Amino acid sequence: MLVHRKQVEEILEGKSLDILPVSVEVDPSNKCNHDCGFCAYSSRRAANNVHLSEEILMQLVEDVGEKGVKGMLFTGGGEPLVNPFTVSAMERANELGVDTGLITNGGMITDKNLTTIVNSTRFVRLSLDAGTTESHRIMHEPKNGVKRDEFRYILDRIRDMVTHRDAEGLETTIGIGFLVNPTTLHEVYDGCKEAHFAGANYIQIRPIYDLPQTQQTIVREQAPNLVRKQIERFKGEFKDSALKVHAHFPRFADLYANHKDYARCESHPLIGVVGATGELYLCCQHKGTAQFSYGQITQERRFFDIWEDKVVRSGVAESIQLGLCPPCKYNDMNRLLDQMKGEGSEQRAAHFESLKKGTIQHPNNL
Ligand SMILES: C[S@@+](CC[C@H](N)C(=O)[O-])C[C@H]1O[C@@H](n2cnc3c(N)ncnc32)[C@H](O)[C@@H]1O
Ligand code: SF4
Ligand code: SF4
Repeated sequence: MLVHRKQVEEILEGKSLDILPVSVEVDPSNKCNHDCGFCAYSSRRAANNVHLSEEILMQLVEDVGEKGVKGMLFTGGGEPLVNPFTVSAMERANELGVDTGLITNGGMITDKNLTTIVNSTRFVRLSLDAGTTESHRIMHEPKNGVKRDEFRYILDRIRDMVTHRDAEGLETTIGIGFLVNPTTLHEVYDGCKEAHFAGANYIQIRPIYDLPQTQQTIVREQAPNLVRKQIERFKGEFKDSALKVHAHFPRFADLYANHKDYARCESHPLIGVVGATGELYLCCQHKGTAQFSYGQITQERRFFDIWEDKVVRSGVAESIQLGLCPPCKYNDMNRLLDQMKGEGSEQRAAHFESLKKGTIQHPNNL
């Protein structure tokens, strides 16, 4: 977050509704080729099983590029590559100088779209969420009677993407997402090994939220230790591996406690969130909830018409009740903003300086 100094300083000065988002996250589709039992968006997807139209998707990309928004993330909702216009939208965003990212389950990456995906993105994160074919089947369950070994298929596509990137001298970061629940808890080592052999740049290990209580207890109590041990084993056995292993251990407890120990949510204006229905939302956790929609993007009322409507946006922001917010990946950002609000200019500057020394890193845009 601290790389976006201008926006952070504006938030700290109380001008949060004046800022240009640092990134726009879009769900090109609510449809999905997989059917993950853990998917946080499954009920919202079922209620609105739609794609974003080509007109609105391409208009959004043009608007984001023209305004100079730094990044655009294609995610879901459902599977972004189910929308037939996603790849050309990413291509156009890249042409406009926007740092483009894709989060995908990987099952719809083909020989035909693979090179364009790599050429057009700064990062692709593939949600693998397993260390073996068997667990991948339990976790992701491909739809439409797909009989192939989806786990191996995705790893092969990762390898192909890495090969293409290196042959072309590109810098696209290709990473793997690995969600932890009782099915995958003991497969972190296997996941790291597969990621290493596929040539991925990183594997990001994080807990599933929305787990039943008994599973939460298992993950909260066992995951930090078990995950750490498996990472150590991998690092011990693969000393020369270039794979970066990211595991944010405090999140394993923090997520389920869902303790909002900050006064306000100040992070939401950093990111514009567009759902597959074309609604612009307060944040991705509240995506699909009418109360937190700023309004629907149309050809007449475009993204920035809504974004710059401070009356509507402040009304929605005022309705945030932190105690009712779901587990949220922006806790760290909100804590830091809260802390910085109470600090003087020297202390604030020190946070930005610490970044220059390379102490704070994140694989994606924020
Ligand atoms: C909803 S998916 C959409 C993109 C694509 N279909 C995929 O799975 O990568 C976006 C991200 O949400 C994550 N996700 C979905 N349900 C989750 C849950 N219950 N807990 C944590 N992350 C979840 C996925 O792992 C993925 O990284
Ligand atoms: S692949 Fe992604 S969007 Fe599809 S069901 Fe799984 S987590 Fe949800
Ligand atoms: S869930 Fe709540 S705390 Fe998290 S980003 Fe959304 S409004 Fe902010």
